[in-house]
Amino acid sequence: MHWPATQLTQRLGLRYPIVQAPMAGATSPELVAAVSNAGGLGSLGGALMSPDALRQAIRDIRRRTDRPFNVNLFVWHDPAEPEPAALAAVRAALAPFRSRVGVPEDAVLPLPPSPRALLEQQLAVVCEETVPVFSFAFGIPPLAEVQRTGAVIAGTATTVAEAAALEEAGVDLVVAQGAEAGGHRGSFVAAFEESMIGGLALIPQIVDRVRLPVVAAGGIMDGRGIAAALALGAQGAQLGTAFLACAESTAHPLHKAALRRSADTDTCVTAVYSGRPARAVRTTFIADLEARLPAPLDFPLQYGWTGPVHYAAADKGDGDLMFLLAGQAAALARSLGAAELVEALAQEAQAVIGGPA
Ligand SMILES: Cc1cc2nc3c(=O)[nH]c(=O)nc-3n(C[C@H](O)[C@H](O)[C@H](O)COP(=O)(O)O)c2cc1C
Repeated sequence: MHWPATQLTQRLGLRYPIVQAPMAGATSPELVAAVSNAGGLGSLGGALMSPDALRQAIRDIRRRTDRPFNVNLFVWHDPAEPEPAALAAVRAALAPFRSRVGVPEDAVLPLPPSPRALLEQQLAVVCEETVPVFSFAFGIPPLAEVQRTGAVIAGTATTVAEAAALEEAGVDLVVAQGAEAGGHRGSFVAAFEESMIGGLALIPQIVDRVRLPVVAAGGIMDGRGIAAALALGAQGAQLGTAFLACAESTAHPLHKAALRRSADTDTCVTAVYSGRPARAVRTTFIADLEARLPAPLDFPLQYGWTGPVHYAAADKGDGDLMFLLAGQAAALARSLGAAELVEALAQEAQAVIGGPA
């Protein structure tokens, strides 16, 4: 299939301007390599991985593809030590859920003592393994070392001011994350409530503000969305929820099923799971915590407390006590193989855009 080149396809040598979004915990090397081999850009969500696991995953991807791929990290900050009263409130709010899925009252996930130090170690792996593309969210990490490796660098912006800050910091691409997007909000300049700009409004404003290629993200599930993103001036489209439903994604089967079942009004943005606002399917777990918890702990400490409930619920098949990240257009998800999805997306987008087949 002939596809018009964009700055993204040219810069990275892609067949299609289609990026599979990094999704920490769900992007297996199989998924990443399948997308890259199919002519898109596969992305590893490496934020939750230890440096060793990150290195192994990068090497696993390289065994499966010789095409470019992306490795993504969170710009972690060290959380404040929680006040005893805040901890007690979290414990009390979680107690009924813990007993429902059989999690001891004091069980917490083992989190890195300093997330900031983890980022430094992860960045060292990214440099040592000379990944082709490096992307990040939640801020701007030190970039000089990564730049020296020759990696193409992409930062996440939810507002025009964030896109400008990323350009100033020397990134090569800006991922414009609209309010529709599934997963954590990338916001790092203003409060997240002020940074919930829909993609239709956000993308052209960022395109006009920066000289860099822009990749649109949020609510894009099929070729119509990709064509729309390109029409708004983006040079590519990044899809998360659409790839979450793929066979190669490691999302829990209940998570995949929930995507296809959820209506446009079924997601919400909440900080009760991790301490950082994220868009997810509204479950009993979220609704109840929002009602009963005065304030979550700092990111990622809150996840240390809610995580055991989520994982025990996943083991028991209790989807209502799980945390199911998803974008606003999740209902359009299809259960295809990743390569099949890339090909379908490219054909659909081309049918909308027109031009020679
Ligand atoms: C399950 C899930 C996990 C995500 N994890 C990450 C991540 O680790 N890093 C990141 O930059 N973005 C992450 N995102 C956000 C995506 O990069 C992207 O902005 C979003 O998926 C786009 O919206 P869509 O899901 O409607 O396609 C995640 C999204 C989802 C759905």
